[in-house]
Amino acid sequence: MFELSEELTMVRDAARDFAERELKPRATKHDRQEHLDAEVLAKIAELGFWGLTVPEQYGGAGMGNLALSTVLEELNRGCAATGVTVSVHNSLLCAPILKWGSEEQKQRFLPKLASGEWIGAYCLTEPNSGSDAAALVTKAERDGDHYVLNGTKIWVTSGSMAGLALVYVRTNPDPKLPKAKGISAFLVETSTPGCRVGKKELKCGIRGSPATELVFENCRVPAANMLGALDKGFPIAMDTLDGGRIGIAAQSVGIAQACLEEAIAYAKVRVQFGKPIGHFQAIQHKIADMQVRIDAARMLVQKAAWLRDRGEPCGRQAAEAKLFASQAANFCADECLQIHGGAGYTDHFIAERLFRDARITEIYEGATDIQRLVIARAVMA
Ligand code: CAA
Repeated sequence: MFELSEELTMVRDAARDFAERELKPRATKHDRQEHLDAEVLAKIAELGFWGLTVPEQYGGAGMGNLALSTVLEELNRGCAATGVTVSVHNSLLCAPILKWGSEEQKQRFLPKLASGEWIGAYCLTEPNSGSDAAALVTKAERDGDHYVLNGTKIWVTSGSMAGLALVYVRTNPDPKLPKAKGISAFLVETSTPGCRVGKKELKCGIRGSPATELVFENCRVPAANMLGALDKGFPIAMDTLDGGRIGIAAQSVGIAQACLEEAIAYAKVRVQFGKPIGHFQAIQHKIADMQVRIDAARMLVQKAAWLRDRGEPCGRQAAEAKLFASQAANFCADECLQIHGGAGYTDHFIAERLFRDARITEIYEGATDIQRLVIARAVMA
């Protein structure tokens, strides 16, 4: 039986307490105003969650992916828009800098990320390259000791609030090369001239987390900001997403747990046919099916995070966790709303927001069928 260590239990309890007191009461406000409260961002800094996985020497808490996924489950239980912001920041920005950054880059970028002075963003997707990520066309051309970036990235989580973005660009446009070759990764300060926030999307759910375009127009980025080697950026993007997918799987568990709790609370007080609806087997079976999926999803998340912390390949396990947990979140959100009946379809209860928030987990950081592709390629190789 898996048990959290004493240290992880303390971190989980701190995240749970924060989510209960600060996030849950604000989640609907975040949804309506389409951004997170500044007090929430500051409190995350105080708790050390921006730098949870950053080593202490760069200002972080020096914890791993198991700690991150444990914290993310709790934050997402309170507010999924807050949860994804912390997930992307840690797993899609801090993690690749730690893994591939030079010592100079780590010292220059990690302390500001760990303190929350900068929120991190990840720029891979473009209008014509979503699931086919390697088809990206944003380009960077060398000019002296700089690269000049031109192109548009879309669906950038935290796009309008990010201080630093990891941007994937084509540095070798030779059409004879396989499309995954000739891509490089750059750390771009969003205050750099030529980098601007474009269109902000009006989304179905997680509305408190702004998703925007980031547009690069003759944006001059120091060559020293290249992460990893020239033309070797695509494997960095893919490996980074292995970690990110564990974060989204943890988010899914958190949303699913919130759905279960809301469903139980309602089933205990809603009286029909002379008794609380929770007394009927039809409702009990739904609750049982939700609980089993949450337990199984949490175990898949923990296994993938544990493997990643050991430095072992975890692409398949991360994909399994994301595939199963995101489907569990959507199942639980659907059942939660159904148990609430007509009231669940209104803003009288948070069931409708949870239903909208859950939907994205099957799409971003690799859609459900991309996770199936990753799993099938691994087991059939
Ligand atoms: N780790 C390291 N390297 C990897 C890897 C991994 N997990 N997966 C692939 N690679 C390497 C391969 O080894 C290969 O390198 P070599 O040629 O040197 O061997 C190279 O990357 C190309 O790999 P593939 O041939 O598998 O590439 P592909 O074009 O077939 O694509 C894919 C594979 C799995 C479909 C990939 O494109 C993919 O994951 N697509 C989904 C993209 C995605 O998740 N986007 C989300 C963006 S972020 C977001 O959602 C917004 C946000 O802000 C949250």
